[in-house]
Amino acid sequence: MTVPVIAIDGPGGAGKGTVSQMVAQQLGWHLLDSGSLYRITAYAAGQRGIALDDSTAVAQVARNLDVRFESAVGGVLVILQNQDVSAEIRTEEGGRAASVVAADAAVRAALIDRQRDFAKPPGLVADGRDMGSVVFSSAGLKIFLTASVQERARRRYKQLKDKGMDVSLPALSRDMEERDRRDSQRSVAPLRAAEDARVLDSTDLDVQEVVDLVIFWASEVYSL
Ligand code: C5P
Repeated sequence: MTVPVIAIDGPGGAGKGTVSQMVAQQLGWHLLDSGSLYRITAYAAGQRGIALDDSTAVAQVARNLDVRFESAVGGVLVILQNQDVSAEIRTEEGGRAASVVAADAAVRAALIDRQRDFAKPPGLVADGRDMGSVVFSSAGLKIFLTASVQERARRRYKQLKDKGMDVSLPALSRDMEERDRRDSQRSVAPLRAAEDARVLDSTDLDVQEVVDLVIFWASEVYSL
């Protein structure tokens, strides 16, 4: 039986994480936050003193990650070797390091099966950069969620401030543009909308409007 998949891709700060979580919760489906796997890989490599550009060693770390995800109030906990690293991997530095290891083909290949294992009944909402184009290329619903860079930086700023982090908006915008550039220009699985993806610009929409639209599309495709 093929498991229904909603692939939600797009640049950082477009709201994919929040939207994917809300859609998965509303439908009672599983959730894959694929970015966390790249963040965890970079973090675990750093812990072992492995340079992020050591392709073979980082890919081996990715293949052997001892990680589990646990649902908790307000989100998902990331447990690496029995240690909660949810906060550590969610920093801007963690995102930057993730985008460096994510540009490596061997690292991406090492994480493919682990991502596909998330597709279990009754369905999966998969959040990332290449969910529709590579990992779940036969997904029935593919969405490319985007927003202007100013709006994405503003959203990320608010998110980090709400978590009590000390951040500056101009620095955040710069980091975001740099990460967009690295993600879009890499040769393997670059960030771009799959040919059959529906592009959803959320610049002028609130989260609930985006969630409602995604669920409406899902109900058309999968007759929920
Ligand atoms: O989505 P998040 O910000 O957690 O992703 C961190 C980084 O991981 C991205 O900037 C991107 O380089 C990489 N990534 C990826 N493919 C995915 C998910 C994330 O290359 N499917």
